[in-house]
Amino acid sequence: MCRTACEHSRVLVCRVGIAVAAVFTFMLQAQPAGGPLSREDARQRAKALSALGRKLFSDPRLSRSGQVSCSSCHDPAFAYGPPNARPVQPGGPEMQAFGMRAVPSLRYLQAVPHFSEHFFDESGGDDSVDAGPTGGLTWDGRVDRGREQARIPLLSPLEMANAKVADVVASALGSDYALDLKRLAGRRASILRTFDTILDALQAWQEEPDQFYPYSSKYDAWLAGKARLSEQEERGRRLFIDPSKGDCARCHIAERGANGTPPQFTDYGLIALGVPRNPEVPANSNPDWYDLGMCGPQRTDLQKRHEYCGRFRTPSLRNVATRSSFFHNGVFHTLKEVVEFYARRDTHPDKWYPRDRSGTLQKFNDLPDKYNGNIEMGTPFGGEEGSNPSLDDAAIDDVIAFLKTLTDGYRQEP
Ligand code: HEC
Ligand code: HEC
Repeated sequence: MCRTACEHSRVLVCRVGIAVAAVFTFMLQAQPAGGPLSREDARQRAKALSALGRKLFSDPRLSRSGQVSCSSCHDPAFAYGPPNARPVQPGGPEMQAFGMRAVPSLRYLQAVPHFSEHFFDESGGDDSVDAGPTGGLTWDGRVDRGREQARIPLLSPLEMANAKVADVVASALGSDYALDLKRLAGRRASILRTFDTILDALQAWQEEPDQFYPYSSKYDAWLAGKARLSEQEERGRRLFIDPSKGDCARCHIAERGANGTPPQFTDYGLIALGVPRNPEVPANSNPDWYDLGMCGPQRTDLQKRHEYCGRFRTPSLRNVATRSSFFHNGVFHTLKEVVEFYARRDTHPDKWYPRDRSGTLQKFNDLPDKYNGNIEMGTPFGGEEGSNPSLDDAAIDDVIAFLKTLTDGYRQEP
């Protein structure tokens, strides 16, 4: 029925639906030992959880070093992404450890579907097509909900580095918001229940629409007929969606969903792009170590599925211009390099990959050769070596101008 309209909108969840789902989640989270709450009590509890979550989110006392909070890596001033150009951020008990991956933005995660190996889009796209591995949180989709995700940095030896749940709880109970936490966890709550309340609070905060999915970019204003794109931005938009040019919208969906939902600039698919290895990531100093995304080593349930090696979740491009490190290993530091990589990965591989001692080009050097068949070859990739790339320099600048319209906080010119 809606072939063209839906082609690029495989995964969109209605914003109203999200709000309802959020209230529903709160009601579930809100259920104390005594049984269900009234709707009004659930609303009040959700508000209190979110207020507590906001404090927890920026409290460095919750880390063993006393120096990192969620907001050190997910900075509100950078769309809840990293505040600097480091490919990976420091953490650990004494701030001497480093993570293995670039810090993603925490905006627009509200509609990420739970991970599935076979995704059939029922929210506006063509639901008869198996879109393959899709969804889940983190770069490899290994977690489904924000509250499970929060457990990872709190306990990871490379991040907030608490040895055990009880340490997190003790730090929180020693803080100025301890009373709020106790009230929400319930009288005489166990350590586990108190920890669960901390996770619920962090999730509740990350579901605040104004903070985490404001849809306030110039592009949103344009979609609503309240702003005009400049000529360059408009050229960039066309290149972005043109299947013979950028073809970016194939994965970074740019149109509203069939039910009018705003585009998220991702279809949440897990895809291997073959990005170059980043020698600045400390873990990469071991030449035998590879971050294979979906097939491990951080994700452990699909390690035998070799067809998944090298795949990472397509990120939203909303607010991408506020970042200074791109791709899962933070290998690039400017949008120019990123868009050029798409256009010239195959036409000019020399620009991206090193040669070994014998002079052989090590194309796709961040993936063992046996997995090279997993790498995406469709437009904008492909093209004979030395041939003209799908986007020239001017076109690359146009696409970047368009990407900059995706930054939240656009103020209309009077
Ligand atoms: C030391 C830096 C650091 C700290 C501190 C940190 N994170 Fe993260 N966060 C990351 C990295 C790196 C990833 C990507 C992890 C991966 O792909 O394995 C991530 C991923 C996430 C994701 C999934 C994002 C996505 O796109 O799927 C969420 C949600 C999240 N973090 C929430 C939090 C919360 C809540 C806290 C505080 C309790 C926190 N983070 C603390 C670095 C950090
Ligand atoms: C086949 C699907 C696909 C297509 C087509 C595609 N992308 Fe991507 N994009 C991805 C995936 C997957 C990643 C993450 C890859 C990784 O980190 O290994 C990504 C990452 C990015 C990033 C980095 C975002 C960040 O937070 O680090 C930018 C910028 C980007 N894409 C822009 C574009 C542009 C511009 C185009 C068109 C020229 C495009 N993409 C086409 C799938 C795609």
